[in-house]
Amino acid sequence: MTPVLFRGWGESVDGPWPDAATVVDHVGVPHLVVTRHALVRRLLTDPETFRPDNALDAVTPIPVAALRVLAGHRFRLPPTLANNASASHPEIRAIVAEALHPDRVAAQQPWLTGLVRERVTRLAAALAAGEPVDLYAGLAADLPLLVLARLVELPDAPVGAVKDFARAALDLFWAPLDPARQLALAAEVGRFHTVLRAFAATGGGLAARLRAAGHSPDVVVGALFFLLVAGQETTSQFLTLLLHRLAGEPAVRAGLRAGEIPVADVVEEGLRLEPPIVTWRRVAAVDTTLGEVEVPAGTSIVAWLAQAGRDPAVVAAPGEFRPGQRGSRRHLAFGAGPHRCVGAQLARMEAAVVVSEAAPLLDGVTVVRPPWCPDNLTFRMPDAFVVRRT
Ligand code: HEM
Repeated sequence: MTPVLFRGWGESVDGPWPDAATVVDHVGVPHLVVTRHALVRRLLTDPETFRPDNALDAVTPIPVAALRVLAGHRFRLPPTLANNASASHPEIRAIVAEALHPDRVAAQQPWLTGLVRERVTRLAAALAAGEPVDLYAGLAADLPLLVLARLVELPDAPVGAVKDFARAALDLFWAPLDPARQLALAAEVGRFHTVLRAFAATGGGLAARLRAAGHSPDVVVGALFFLLVAGQETTSQFLTLLLHRLAGEPAVRAGLRAGEIPVADVVEEGLRLEPPIVTWRRVAAVDTTLGEVEVPAGTSIVAWLAQAGRDPAVVAAPGEFRPGQRGSRRHLAFGAGPHRCVGAQLARMEAAVVVSEAAPLLDGVTVVRPPWCPDNLTFRMPDAFVVRRT
């Protein structure tokens, strides 16, 4: 069952799974993997019993040599957002939520639509000329970062450098790794962390607001770190996975084109069936039970979000992409409870724009190269999605 821990998507979510079962990972650590919607919800919404402290723990323990590299860059991840169960969480979260307020998100929509339209026109011309196009590299990869930079002041770093850092962080903390790779990833993550630390001390916008509220430099760095990783990489993964899914769903594209299927329903069904974050962790604070299972204090619990989205107790046709079907919107792709994703509205807006503008590109194409995703406990991280006009 171990491989499922690191490939918790696609076919691996289709099997019959126990409601909750212990799975031992590649380094011998047991995790209680929870699959049912009701149990995952309970896990995420009861922070007294199930704390978020382990949300950012490295699933492959980081060896001393790599820890030294990180320490050399003064790398620290104190509890700030996702892994913060302390009294500071609501205040930090409120400041971040203000920067990502739905009104501010909605104000970005016209600009984003213009940018996506330009790109789609170029990509359509390439397809018409018989060329293969990569909808990850050519469309989805950098859009969320560009939008985030307009909402939140960020260090003035090239897009490529931020993407490399974010992907390195997702590997370093959530992938099964060997020590040589951990060393290389620690160097990459550490280098950018230095950039973030400098920006946290002087930057405006969100960084300045967190400083003004009295938060330590570590907290400002931690918040920026999490936003840059979770606030853009996840969405570009989702856009890629959703477009790939839609390439195989001609009836849904026809419904969109005819105005019979609302784009918002397509986005929700996409989040349910193709969540970019397939699992999320909590740790038991006390001896407790989850369903029928006894859970000792200290147990690592993996909420299998992708599987919860396919729970037949909630969704009428769990494996089928049917926008608007009963239960479609009840997915847990954004988590639940006090740590529920604060960027959900932003991710939804970006996905709605991309689907509206780019779905027609998929008419009459064949998939040359489907997205490939490396082993990872939590993130999908597709690397490319290449199509060509048939
Ligand atoms: C499709 C894209 C996205 C997905 C699937 C996603 C999913 C998630 C999940 C599963 C969590 C953990 C929730 C929990 O513990 O209950 C989370 C937390 C968070 N997400 Fe997202 N996210 C996405 C996009 C974004 C964006 C665009 C931003 C901001 C720009 C963002 C910012 C955050 C933050 C700050 C947290 C931590 C909230 C807290 O602990 O209070 N996410 N997200």
